[in-house]
Amino acid sequence: MRIAMIGSGYVGLVSGTCFSEFGHDVICVDKDDSKIALLEDGVMPIYEPGLDNLVAKNVKAGRLSFTTNLKEAVKTADAVFIGVGTPSRRGDGKADLTYVYAAAEEIAEAIDGYTVVVTKSTVPVGTGQQVSDIIGKICTSDDFDVVSNPEFLREGAAIEDFMRPDRVVVGTECPRAQKVMEAIYRPLSLIQTPILFTSRESSELIKYAGNAFLATKITFINEMADLCEKVGADVHDVARGIGLDGRIGRKFLHPGPGFGGSCFPKDTRALYQTSAEHDAPSRIVEAVIDINEARKPKMADKVIQMLGGDIKGRKIAILGLTFKPNTDDMRESPSLDIIAKLQESGADIHAYDPEGAKEAKELLSDVTFCENAYTPLENADAVVIITEWNEFRALDLDRVKSLLNQPVMVDLRNIYEPEEMEAQGFQYMCVGRPTPSQISKG
Ligand code: UDX
Repeated sequence: MRIAMIGSGYVGLVSGTCFSEFGHDVICVDKDDSKIALLEDGVMPIYEPGLDNLVAKNVKAGRLSFTTNLKEAVKTADAVFIGVGTPSRRGDGKADLTYVYAAAEEIAEAIDGYTVVVTKSTVPVGTGQQVSDIIGKICTSDDFDVVSNPEFLREGAAIEDFMRPDRVVVGTECPRAQKVMEAIYRPLSLIQTPILFTSRESSELIKYAGNAFLATKITFINEMADLCEKVGADVHDVARGIGLDGRIGRKFLHPGPGFGGSCFPKDTRALYQTSAEHDAPSRIVEAVIDINEARKPKMADKVIQMLGGDIKGRKIAILGLTFKPNTDDMRESPSLDIIAKLQESGADIHAYDPEGAKEAKELLSDVTFCENAYTPLENADAVVIITEWNEFRALDLDRVKSLLNQPVMVDLRNIYEPEEMEAQGFQYMCVGRPTPSQISKG
């Protein structure tokens, strides 16, 4: 199959590269000529483990190439995927479809022979129909079909998620388009991956409903963690205890500072907007959005509490800035709200992140960025772990203690054990798990 991928950002680049790994001929298109030039030189515009090697391998095999020329790429393609961004619109939180519609217009002008146009970008219900209407103004109905095929990639694990997904969802009721999509995903059906064919509208909604459900799971366990702190229960035991019930499942029940990233915050807002517009407002999704937004800055209160209520002029070390490990993505990261609140309360922030510093420097001011995990700890009054990068899981705790002014650690990802930390002489606070001294105080 010949595939054109419109948009070589996160979704487009990972999906296009993985399709070429399946054996298809893929050409990735982007308007940004500096990005295309970098890709042609083998430089990745995003940090995603394994992507550089996979790109190099498939470029060398002649199956993957890059261009700014959309028309040329579309002309020869059997399938054209739209993988452009759909950011949250300022103000109302709806998905901004400007780039999707602009891509549809350009594709329409270039289609030559029957082509399946696939929306891979996350788009609200009804967008596939709009794309079809736009293309239909120029092309006849024999020339094309518009199909929905949402992505479910996690940053940092995107290649694995693409190559070994739980399922593939394809929204089309047209047998001709279905055949093309079956051929594209044949390597996955060979390894028994369920390929679910639905209506276009169902497929569009599956993406939002899936992300909103996962965001709800996280928010639920975060609220349970708050309750655990009040009643002296351990949220990890609660999560395990409920997660072993097959109807609930163990995944996405890890408590923390609130979800961030490029998908959950944006997609929950967009789903809420869609539900309200169709007079079926989702109160659950609305609550999840509100609770999560309120939670992020609230995490700073844990630090303030540990330092006796006043952090004016105190030095605080932050480990981890990105919204999760194995990415350089800072979008909607809890660290932004936590640091802002600590700074408002007068703290002096010194931070380290293995990959996120470049992006973080654009978003944070008055922060001292350090080159390793130990430098920010020097003479700090507390260390706060915000992102669970592997290198923070095995810190030299004696060294940590000797560098800090006082051995105070706030671990917002629960990567250490309360008993062990107290035994090591730390004043330790995490999320939803009491320390032995807190239990003894009752
Ligand atoms: C998510 C979805 O998982 C993916 O299917 C979708 O296509 C895009 O959005 P991503 O945003 O890359 O992927 O990250 P994910 O691993 O899902 O984590 C999202 C946020 O939830 C992070 O801030 C993470 O720290 C948080 N999280 C996740 C928790 O707080 N607890 C959990 O148990 C899981």
